[in-house]
Amino acid sequence: MSAAIGKAGPGVHGAAGVGVLGLGVVGSAVARAILEREHTGHTQPSLKLLGAVVRDIRKPRLVRLPEGLLSTDAATILDNPDVSIVVEVMGGEMPAFDYISRALRAGKHVVTANKEVLCKRGAELEEIAAEHGVRLLYEASVGGGIPIIGPLTTDLSANRILGLRAIINGTTNYILTKMAAGGAGFDVALKEAQGLGYAEADPTNDVDGFDAAFKITVLSRLAYRTHVPLEAVYREGIRNMDAKDFRYAKDLGFAIKLIAAAQREEDGLLVRVHPAFVPVGVPMANVNGVLNAVEIEGDMVGPLWFQGRGAGPSPTASAVMGDVLRIAREIESGSGVSTVRQPVEGLRLLQMGEHQCRYYLRLTVHDRAGVLAKIAGALGEMNISIRSVLQMDTDEKHRVAGLVIMTHPAREANMQKAVARIRDLDVVASLDNLIRVESYPDIAY
Ligand code: NAP
Ligand code: HSE
Repeated sequence: MSAAIGKAGPGVHGAAGVGVLGLGVVGSAVARAILEREHTGHTQPSLKLLGAVVRDIRKPRLVRLPEGLLSTDAATILDNPDVSIVVEVMGGEMPAFDYISRALRAGKHVVTANKEVLCKRGAELEEIAAEHGVRLLYEASVGGGIPIIGPLTTDLSANRILGLRAIINGTTNYILTKMAAGGAGFDVALKEAQGLGYAEADPTNDVDGFDAAFKITVLSRLAYRTHVPLEAVYREGIRNMDAKDFRYAKDLGFAIKLIAAAQREEDGLLVRVHPAFVPVGVPMANVNGVLNAVEIEGDMVGPLWFQGRGAGPSPTASAVMGDVLRIAREIESGSGVSTVRQPVEGLRLLQMGEHQCRYYLRLTVHDRAGVLAKIAGALGEMNISIRSVLQMDTDEKHRVAGLVIMTHPAREANMQKAVARIRDLDVVASLDNLIRVESYPDIAY
């Protein structure tokens, strides 16, 4: 579908007028990039910053705006006829949804980095944008600076996407990388990530896997043309990761990563976010710090790999500005392209219980005869075969020992039943962690 490009005019003196909702980590970097273009004479296409909206006008800012541009009133942007592009970088579902929909209905184009609103209300917003003949672009919402939304929307659209697996949260990847190196503990690494501008306003969204879950739903909608509600995503965060898990993972030849995956199975689509063992020999295991990576397999193109900085002001502003400039070019040329409604394929959404993989199981057991037999029995009853067992860190004084069990591939539903039984065994002091092992059928590990 194509339409006249927005109702808003070409802005001020031929420049596209831009209003920025939110002037935090990302908004400041975007405002700075626009002001730099204004001052350094980048004219094609030309932009003019017409306003920025925040919650608290007295807060110190990372960017100095010309007099009179900062406000706490969103109407200064949404009701300004000279604003043709609204950049929403506030975050959260509300009031972001209201502001974005108001902007679209007023014939303004919108660029957003807000994966939460896209996850929860993206289909509605796309519908409104299409109805009003305007653009809704969101390259920065997933993978920070990595161009991934564009390729899924356009370049790969002839493909049937078979699999998609990613590291799409910079904060948790930064924390996991630090913990794996045996350096900073969880809290210190999180503080560092916050200081570098990677974390969400509420970092529990990062740590508990919500941010990655929002993002994988956005990617799934584009890749599989299937609306995946947040509740349909299996989600586990990284709070349960312990220094011991990193040590054992390394000894066993794995890295630990927060994986987000959307896999096409014979009977539907399984979407999951959880920490996972990744064999050290594959590229995903070596994506460290704030880097994100996305592996995609299309039936025509085959496997693809995208990697880059997944969070932080500069890479995110790179993606936001790419969208802003694309719209400004369209406005300048009058090319009249608007948001396209995503066709719906509607794959059946599978439950995590149907997932199949190998498992790492870490337990603390009473160090006495018959322990292994009881645990092996509980696994065997659920048809789970043991691949290796290691007894680690024996504590002679308390007569307990650490046990690490690696299994052969098993069904998640069976593993969960086995775990419940193992927890109840009198020989088990505690079941400390269960981590899934990512499958890479083409390599030996
Ligand atoms: P942030 O630093 O917390 O900034 C949020 C900004 O929005 C602040 O300026 C805040 O105002 C303003 N704001 C929040 N609620 C508002 C409201 N109700 N009315 C008016 N202004 C409001 O967040 P950020 O890191 O820049 O992230 C912004 C968006 O980009 C989020 O959707 C995030 O998920 C996404 N994103 C972030 C990154 C990253 O690396 N940080 C990367 C990709 C995408 P005050 O300053 O007055 O509080
Ligand atoms: N908090 C997010 C992250 C920002 O750490 O990846 C980028 O979306």
